[in-house]
Amino acid sequence: MASQKSDESFTNSSSEINEVADPANNNDHCRNDSECSQVDDVIADSKNYYNNAKTYWSNVSPTVDGMLGGFGSISFIDIRGSEQFLKQLYKQKPAPGRKRALDCGAGIGRISKNLLLPWFDQVDLVEQDGQFCQTARTELADFSSKLGTVFNAGLQDFSPEEGRYDIIWAQWVLGHLTDEDTDSLGEEW
Ligand SMILES: C[S@@+](CC[C@H](N)C(=O)[O-])C[C@H]1O[C@@H](n2cnc3c(N)ncnc32)[C@H](O)[C@@H]1O
Repeated sequence: MASQKSDESFTNSSSEINEVADPANNNDHCRNDSECSQVDDVIADSKNYYNNAKTYWSNVSPTVDGMLGGFGSISFIDIRGSEQFLKQLYKQKPAPGRKRALDCGAGIGRISKNLLLPWFDQVDLVEQDGQFCQTARTELADFSSKLGTVFNAGLQDFSPEEGRYDIIWAQWVLGHLTDEDTDSLGEEW
């Protein structure tokens, strides 16, 4: 996985990501009651964590300022930094393909619009907030031939189709996942 400050992209290697397990079905893996109860606690914590985040984002305005925590004015320089990173990545030999990219935690499509859509033939987005997904579809309407699917899903529940993406891009979102789910993304996607 190549990374730069908040930008993480990882090239075409994918397999299934574990879904958040259902506590009711998970106890077969425990060695004893205490271990089962610890597993149940972790799963419950993780569900609470994502539910709280969902509530938080549902109160954020679907704007560039909202995406950047009130620092919308840095959007241009943020995108330029990401572009430099992408250019460096494509100096690799062999370079990744430029057919399909996945924008993770895409918000209203700021990264897709200003970075990924100009660069790739097709871009899919995955974003947990329904209103942001809707705004992204509107914001990206001019790119209709290049815009693929906008998946309304949490990354912790999402499994990209194996081999589909040349680049999987995650900007300003990995910090919103639990450590376990971040590890799963890096290892299994
Ligand atoms: C700081 S914003 C960044 C949005 C976009 N990447 C950008 O740079 O403009 C974080 C985004 O991640 C989304 N997000 C947070 N947790 C997520 C999760 N578990 N799965 C998918 N998206 C998530 C939020 O809804 C929000 O749109």
